[in-house]
Amino acid sequence: MTHVVSEPCIRCRYTDCIDDCPVDCFHLGPSFVAIDPATCIDCGLCVAACPVGAIFHADLLPVSQKDFLELNAHFARLWPRASQREPKLPDADQWRDVTDKRRWIAD
Ligand code: F3S
Repeated sequence: MTHVVSEPCIRCRYTDCIDDCPVDCFHLGPSFVAIDPATCIDCGLCVAACPVGAIFHADLLPVSQKDFLELNAHFARLWPRASQREPKLPDADQWRDVTDKRRWIAD
């Protein structure tokens, strides 16, 4: 099993989660991060690190977020691995309460 980054991350990308990952399973996109399911060891340390509650165990993903299981695997193949926190996006705080953000996942 794996943990999964879901929609609240989009356009926020705070990256606190990356520092807490012991196996560097996060991959950094322009406005979202993806967890590589083949690398994740299911420790769950990243869950509490995310200030917007974007990370779930795959078994606990809300129904509305189930597609993020495949989206994480897809983008983890495309984006570079990240091993340390990056600056949050400049307008991250303005996006944290916005819903329906899928269209910007790779922008
Ligand atoms: Fe995204 Fe939360 Fe990590 S906003 S980059 S999953 S800390």
